[in-house]
Amino acid sequence: MGALIRLDKVSKTYRTGDIEVHAVCGVSLDIGAGEFVAVMGASGSGKSTLMNILGCLDRPTSGRYVLDGVEVSDLDRDQLADLRNRKLGFVFQGFHLLSRTSALENVELPLLYARGLTTAQQRERALRALDLVGLADRADHYPNQLSGGQQQRVAIARALVNEPVLLLADEPTGNLDSRTSVEIMGVFQRLNAQGITILMVTHESDIARHTTRTIVMRDGLIVADAPVRERLDAAVELRRLPPVQPVGP
Ligand SMILES: Nc1ncnc2c1ncn2[C@@H]1O[C@H](COP(=O)(O)OP(=O)(O)OP(=O)(O)O)[C@@H](O)[C@H]1O
Ligand SMILES: [Mg+2]
Repeated sequence: MGALIRLDKVSKTYRTGDIEVHAVCGVSLDIGAGEFVAVMGASGSGKSTLMNILGCLDRPTSGRYVLDGVEVSDLDRDQLADLRNRKLGFVFQGFHLLSRTSALENVELPLLYARGLTTAQQRERALRALDLVGLADRADHYPNQLSGGQQQRVAIARALVNEPVLLLADEPTGNLDSRTSVEIMGVFQRLNAQGITILMVTHESDIARHTTRTIVMRDGLIVADAPVRERLDAAVELRRLPPVQPVGP
């Protein structure tokens, strides 16, 4: 089977006034269906720029990008947006949930753009996505009635509701304490075991050890790319970690 993602000498140069920043410099990379990849590297090394290109949020200055057999470099803005809606799910450090909207309605949002589903079918799909992240019983809660980890799980459910081929996560545990971060890794590991391909940026090597492959960037280049040895199993860790202590006297 061919790669789900194929980058061929992809570069991204930003121009601000007279200054040029070479954020990504001729990166070639193949990622197969079913992989769970961590992207690491110092601040400014080009991780988010690479993720934005992979997520069809930004276009390379040069090079080729093929996603699931589609030559992305040739598409116009509308076609890119369509590809994003059909094939990709996004999770960010900040959860970006709508505050006056229930968990279920937040998860339903991407389906407004999906043609051909009845309201009942949308609801059913959103509930199924919430169930995948273990939050079916919180469907009617508003974001301020959920913990940080639960809010991130709602954001993951929202990313999954269109049944994407690829989940892209830029520092998904950046705002979470360590136990909650492991819980989110547990969700990702379960989804990955069900066949979802995941690409995740992280600064923390302990978090990266939950993936199957780690890529390290420096100055816009990939400087290391290796399978993860002694992979951590979030479910096992959670049994060992103490529960979160309630705050207060
Ligand atoms: N829109 C932009 N315009 C100009 N330069 C940019 C833009 N976005 C990023 N850059 C520059 O490109 C380089 C790579 O940035 P990028 O955001 O990809 O880094 P990063 O690895 O995600 O860093 P961090 O870990 O801090 O999130 C940096 O030098 C940054 O200043
Ligand atoms: Mg970044």
